[in-house]
Amino acid sequence: MTIHIGAQPGDIAETVLLPGDPYRAKWAAETFLDDVKCVNEVRGMLGFTGTWKGNPVTIHGSGMGMPSLSIYVNELIKDYGAKTLIRIGSCGGMQKKVSVRDVIIAMTATSISTPSRGIFKEINFAPSADYGLLRAAADAAEAKGTPTHVGGIYSADVFYDERPDLNEQMTRHGILGVEMEAAELYNLAARYDCRALAVLTVSDHLLTGEALPSDQREKSFGDMVEIALEAAFA
Ligand code: ADE
Repeated sequence: MTIHIGAQPGDIAETVLLPGDPYRAKWAAETFLDDVKCVNEVRGMLGFTGTWKGNPVTIHGSGMGMPSLSIYVNELIKDYGAKTLIRIGSCGGMQKKVSVRDVIIAMTATSISTPSRGIFKEINFAPSADYGLLRAAADAAEAKGTPTHVGGIYSADVFYDERPDLNEQMTRHGILGVEMEAAELYNLAARYDCRALAVLTVSDHLLTGEALPSDQREKSFGDMVEIALEAAFA
């Protein structure tokens, strides 16, 4: 057990999918995995381990924002031996060519700040996905026929950001979407020699104001979970 994860040694698989929402972790584990058991409930941050096509997989909530994700990913890697970590979550679209329900596979994650800032100081480190996972996820998405974009995203640390031109600058520089976790996941994977990827569903759009109704989120979320699982074991 760690400070934030109640799992016993051996309860966590080397492959971990990380939705922000603990109830999405429960839904994804019950929908896609076999032989599921709950391995963490500390502070309501649910984690489940089961198998997918015979491969051990843990699906564990990360919480919202990089400080929360950093707690769980540090413990999953350093205390439980996680090696492949794939964020599955939602994002806001930032380009005209990106539509609500599309999937974005994040090649890089730009940020203003991450919890690793104290280590990097003046270095503008470029948090990047694992290329093998990225390629396998793009192949899996193409095979499923899911409308998918591969490119840079922006990991924000403020959801209700009032800076006037921030989103415009991201859009102008080709950023596909905004979420709040991937940059620190990629930093930690680089630091501890792990593989990481973020596969995201566009749930709302910053240019059009459109938002996916909650009853339609499940199907889009399911495609993303399958793409992540296929990439992890390609
Ligand atoms: N996650 C989903 N939509 C988002 C948005 N518009 N901003 C930040 N994170 C998000």
